[in-house]
Order: sequence, then structure tokens, then C-alpha cells
Amino acid sequence: MFWSSLYHWFKMIHLIAMVAWFAGLFYIFRLFVYHVKHRDEPSVVAALITMEEKLLRIIMKPAMVVTFVFGFAMLYVKPVWLQYGWIWVKIVGVFGLVAYHFYAVSIHRKMAEGQYPLTERACRFINEVPTLFLFLVVFLAVIKPF
Ligand code: HEM
Repeated sequence: MFWSSLYHWFKMIHLIAMVAWFAGLFYIFRLFVYHVKHRDEPSVVAALITMEEKLLRIIMKPAMVVTFVFGFAMLYVKPVWLQYGWIWVKIVGVFGLVAYHFYAVSIHRKMAEGQYPLTERACRFINEVPTLFLFLVVFLAVIKPF
């Protein structure tokens, strides 16, 4: 009874954290585009490394953790969701986002060491990927088709 009275608060925090995480997921590869473009300008590169590092560490990582914690808190309060297919497909989609997040971390680390594994064009292209996952996950969470 006590926990179920908190369900809507959990959902509210879940959604706010998800928006903050996505702000970063949408922006990080855009920073990589500038980073690759200005790779021969040391002062720009230094500023971009700091921006990427802060975005990943101060915004994206905590926001991802809070999204997960409150997503699972809702499942603790309403375990009935686990009997539906949408939640499992949603969790698979969320793991796709987590893979994207850590891929961004690995690209950031390589570029901070002066390696450039991606072209500017590839960064622009990869930057569109989170939109597809956002569509899938929100569709599943809101429409609950199965
Ligand atoms: C493993 C991580 C996650 C878990 C366990 C989880 C779990 C849940 C649960 C149980 C609900 C409540 C459903 C309801 O009351 O109708 C919910 C709502 C929601 N989640 Fe997640 N979620 C996770 C990650 C995400 C992510 C990454 C996104 C966005 C891409 C997201 C978007 C939403 C939305 C939009 C709702 C609101 C649905 C509604 O009220 O109609 N969730 N989530």
C-alpha cells in the first residue's frame, strides 16, 4: 500500500531521468562531429574533450542509473507488468540504448587519446540511432501492444 502510493512519483522521476539521459544521448555524437572536424586545433579539441567528459559523467551516467532504478522500482510495486510482452521487448530496447551509451564512452576515450576511429559523416549518421530506440521504447511503454 505504501509503495503503491509512490508509483506515480516513481514514474515521474523515471521520465525526468529518461529525458535527461536522452539529452545526452542526442548530443554526445554531435560533439564528436565537432571533435573530428576540428581535430587539428588543439585548443578546440581540449574544450571538446572536457565537454564530452562532463556530459557523460555528470549528466548521462547518473540519469541512466536513475532511469533504471525507478523503472525497476515500478516493477517492484507492480510486478504484474512482467507478465506482458511489451515490458520484455522494452527492456531489450533499453539494453540497445545502454550499448549506445557505452559505445559513446569508448569513442570519447579513444578520441581523448588522439585516435579517431570514426569519420565526421559516421558520427552524424550514428547520432540518429537513439531516435529509433526512443520511438520503439516509448511506443511499447505507452501503447503496450502485447
Ligand atoms: C530497464 C529500464 C527500464 C525499466 C525497467 C522500465 C520500466 C517501466 C515501467 C514499469 C513503467 C510503468 C508503465 C505504466 O505504469 O504504464 C515505465 C513507464 C515508462 N517508461 Fe520505462 N523503463 C525503463 C527504461 C525506460 C527508457 C530508457 C525509456 C525511454 C526511452 C522509458 C520510457 C517510459 C515511458 C515513456 C513510460 C510512461 C508510460 C505511460 O505511463 O504510459 N523507460 N517504465
